[in-house]
Amino acid sequence: MPLVKVAHVNDVIPGTAKVVQAGQTTCALFNLGGTFYATNNKCTHMGGPLGEGKVEGNVVTCPWHGSRFDIRTGEVVGPPARRPVVAYPVKIQDQSVFVEIP
Ligand code: FES
Repeated sequence: MPLVKVAHVNDVIPGTAKVVQAGQTTCALFNLGGTFYATNNKCTHMGGPLGEGKVEGNVVTCPWHGSRFDIRTGEVVGPPARRPVVAYPVKIQDQSVFVEIP
């Protein structure tokens, strides 16, 4: 499982998300109060960009039709999406954010 550097810790303001590229995989990178999480960027409803979604607490809302996902696990917490989004492990090293892509 390769670790891919996707950002510097200062690139994502706490309480926000950013779209990042990890090799072939486009991810949504989230900073929840200094703890980083990553999911696939594509909403499981119709592919909306979760990294451009609104972050409230531990939940991101898809900007296209309002599906809501738990940022920490990828689980759906609000429709219309029914399938969870893939969540990737994140590691911080020397102020850099790495995402582990399977
Ligand atoms: S594409 Fe995300 S809610 Fe429809």
